[in-house]
Amino acid sequence: MDVETKPVFSCFTRNDFTKGNIRIMQRPENLDLKDYLEQQMEHIREQVGNDRVLLALSGGVDSSVCAALLSRAIPGQLTCIFVDTGLMRLDEGNQVEAAFADKDLDFIRVDAETRFLSKLAAVVDPEQKRKIIGEEFVRIFEEESAKLGYIPYLAQGTIYPDIIESGAAGHENIKSHHNVGGLPEDLAFTGLVEPLSLLYKDEVRALGTSLDLPDYLVNRQPFPGPGLAVRCIGEVTKEKLDALRVADAVVREELDALPQNIAQYFAIMTDTYSVGIRDGKRAYSPVVAVRAVATNDFMQAEYVHLPHDALARISQRITDACPGVSRVVYDITSKPPGTVEWE
Ligand code: XMP
Repeated sequence: MDVETKPVFSCFTRNDFTKGNIRIMQRPENLDLKDYLEQQMEHIREQVGNDRVLLALSGGVDSSVCAALLSRAIPGQLTCIFVDTGLMRLDEGNQVEAAFADKDLDFIRVDAETRFLSKLAAVVDPEQKRKIIGEEFVRIFEEESAKLGYIPYLAQGTIYPDIIESGAAGHENIKSHHNVGGLPEDLAFTGLVEPLSLLYKDEVRALGTSLDLPDYLVNRQPFPGPGLAVRCIGEVTKEKLDALRVADAVVREELDALPQNIAQYFAIMTDTYSVGIRDGKRAYSPVVAVRAVATNDFMQAEYVHLPHDALARISQRITDACPGVSRVVYDITSKPPGTVEWE
């Protein structure tokens, strides 16, 4: 493969590296994944030598595959910082940790639920939520990496569509990426390691499988960086998040079992309250919404015509499992005019 990905910078900030790296990346027409993996592993070994590499692992597909690839290429030299924000889905933190238990890397899990929830207290504006979460993530990453001493290389799970959508390599800027793992531009590293940056998502998933990552990590649905905070309308509280996690697990379990191809499906904890009956008494509690969309590119999406018996089971199971939920509704809005997420 005639792709030049050798490091050509020696002492720039992360931002310079990102720009530089993107500029020299050209995707070959017929990319063979086996060759790509071999070539990247060799390249990484040449690039970092015996030095250590740091990765912010979110548990998403890209950073997970990046971690698995690096642990194979440079066993024992990778340190992953996984920040459990308390905004993840049911049991997600444990699943991510378990997936890397047999990999040759240092896994640092930071339990930051209390920190995130106290920063989010009384915040209802979606953009402000995202900003607070992004900033808190960076603060935690900086604190944790400072404890590790100097690590010369930063790894990122950047993939080819990120580069295209960020307007690099001559492409138009469609949207800037604002993941919770977005790191500040003045973090100085000697080099940036981006082993997935020529791959499309389906190739990243296939690579993850070939690197023995579990199916639940490799084939997971997209999940926003700010996590359940953008699916918990109004103030984000532990009580609302706990109920949302249970409702969301029900939705995913029921819709996983359907033969239909649904791109993304989840629950939303709305801030609308409705009257219901619990134990023969009047109750006044929040409404949970269910979202299920079909899409190829997430720029446009259709709501899915779910079978009514599946919807009925979802409603019954959520109201049984979450006594604090009065009612379940199905979102029948396509994108546009709606977006996939509610916030
Ligand atoms: P929207 O809501 O914009 O979502 O129609 C399109 C896709 O992007 C995901 N999404 C995000 N992903 N950080 C992410 O990493 C975010 O802040 C974010 N917001 C939306 C969403 O889940 C859907 O797949």
